[in-house]
Amino acid sequence: MSSNNWNLDPAPESTAQIQLKPKYELFIDGSWQKPHSKKYFDSLNPANESILAQIAHANQKDVDMAVSSARRAYRDVWSKMSGAQRGKYLFRIARLMQEKSRELAVLETLDGGKPIRESRDVDIPLACNHFFYYAGWADKLNEAFAGQKPSSIGVAAQITPWNFPLLMLAWKIAPALACGNTVVLKPAETTSLTALKFAEICQEAGLPNGVVNIVTGFGDTGALLVAHPDVDKIAFTGSTAVGKYIQKACIGTAKKLTLELGGKSANIILEDAQIDQAVEGIINAIFFNQGHVCCAGSRLFVQESIAQQVVEKLKFRLQSIYIGDPLDKNTDIGAINSKKQLETIEKYIALGISEGASIFQPECRMPTKGYYCKPTLFTDVAQSARIAQEEIFGPVLTIQTFRTMEEVVQKANNSPYGLAAGIWTAKGARIFGMGKQLHAGVVWANTYNKFDPSSPFGGYKESGYGREGGRHGLSAYLQFNT
Ligand code: NAI
Ligand code: MG
Repeated sequence: MSSNNWNLDPAPESTAQIQLKPKYELFIDGSWQKPHSKKYFDSLNPANESILAQIAHANQKDVDMAVSSARRAYRDVWSKMSGAQRGKYLFRIARLMQEKSRELAVLETLDGGKPIRESRDVDIPLACNHFFYYAGWADKLNEAFAGQKPSSIGVAAQITPWNFPLLMLAWKIAPALACGNTVVLKPAETTSLTALKFAEICQEAGLPNGVVNIVTGFGDTGALLVAHPDVDKIAFTGSTAVGKYIQKACIGTAKKLTLELGGKSANIILEDAQIDQAVEGIINAIFFNQGHVCCAGSRLFVQESIAQQVVEKLKFRLQSIYIGDPLDKNTDIGAINSKKQLETIEKYIALGISEGASIFQPECRMPTKGYYCKPTLFTDVAQSARIAQEEIFGPVLTIQTFRTMEEVVQKANNSPYGLAAGIWTAKGARIFGMGKQLHAGVVWANTYNKFDPSSPFGGYKESGYGREGGRHGLSAYLQFNT
């Protein structure tokens, strides 16, 4: 079966409830302020290259104002408020997000290109749950860290990427506020719209002015925020290159830093695994969401005895995958987030071929406008190949085989990254035995890409440091006075 044979009627989610302004200013001190730069840039819909809105580009003066606003709100209001009171605001924000979840999901899909199924069923519910979860901790910090006398840090600068715009905002803002800090957040330039909607939600929730400030712009705006002397804490999610730059920029300062960077995560299929379940899990781990997932299972290791069978099943499954309009409820693979990212992925696909790997792409109908990439499998991949070592951040899977447990652990750990891993096996002992040996922040067993606000997430090695989520996620926004 090929997706050319799919004759599904289009089932697009309605955009009727979306209320977009043609132009967005900066959200500073509780109100919308024109940028001193007087500059704006376009946010595109990557599915059809149409312009969704114009967005302000913050400069030094704007960043200064946002940080001062966060400082004032911290000093005069937020740090003095009881945890129970802060919790009430967070619960209110969570409920408002939930009420507007449909609008937020459609907006996330329009601005970023991810399938509506993902934003509706994964991103937005998880983002709401993070606020509910951390709202519950706000008045229990002393119990969470008994005897350690936790207190807030101050002003947090938070920089987020384009792959999970609202979810990454929630991972950062919810614990920061619960712990009594105020924030200045800079969303990614291609996906700022849900953060700007979130600013409206803060207004509607009556959050005191300046507790949350949103400054939009490119890397230059992010760098100004990182360099600002009145910032106490920086939380960054994005590329390893920018993470290293931020790390250098913080040397010799008292700023606290957490980094969540890239990955090249191993998904390991043992011969005793439920094959059909594993094949679906492999597809989910790398192809849904266009591979725009930092913990994507982008390196597949299959035990030699079942390799041929798994590869055949994967190819067969890819023939029926549905690529197209991200707003369509049937879509499995939506649009690549930007032209720049599509070019990066295409460069890696060409590199894989020139490195001697064998390529497979399904025959499928592709939209004529917008940024799209076919799901791509590479077999005959050498361990040293760049496509097996470097983060591609697209729907590209490298497949390697192994014979023994020792061999696969060694291969899986042979990576500069250590964010996540997956193990597929029927034997619990293998899950625990291998799980302990894998250098990865998260190890999933017989599933992949499962998240919960109560469980911490973060990496080893060049995947960064610090944890987000759970009780661990609170400690990144606290100092201890024992
Ligand atoms: P990026 O790291 O440049 O962008 C992430 C955020 O950092 C954006 O908000 C951006 O404006 C900001 N930023 C850029 N330069 C900065 C600087 N000098 N100082 C402070 N902030 C700065 O990532 P990009 O270019 O969008 O993607 C490149 C690659 O990064 C991808 O191909 C992928 O491999 C990886 N990536 C990893 C992510 C993850 O979740 N770990 C998310 C997004 C990208
Ligand atoms: Mg966009």
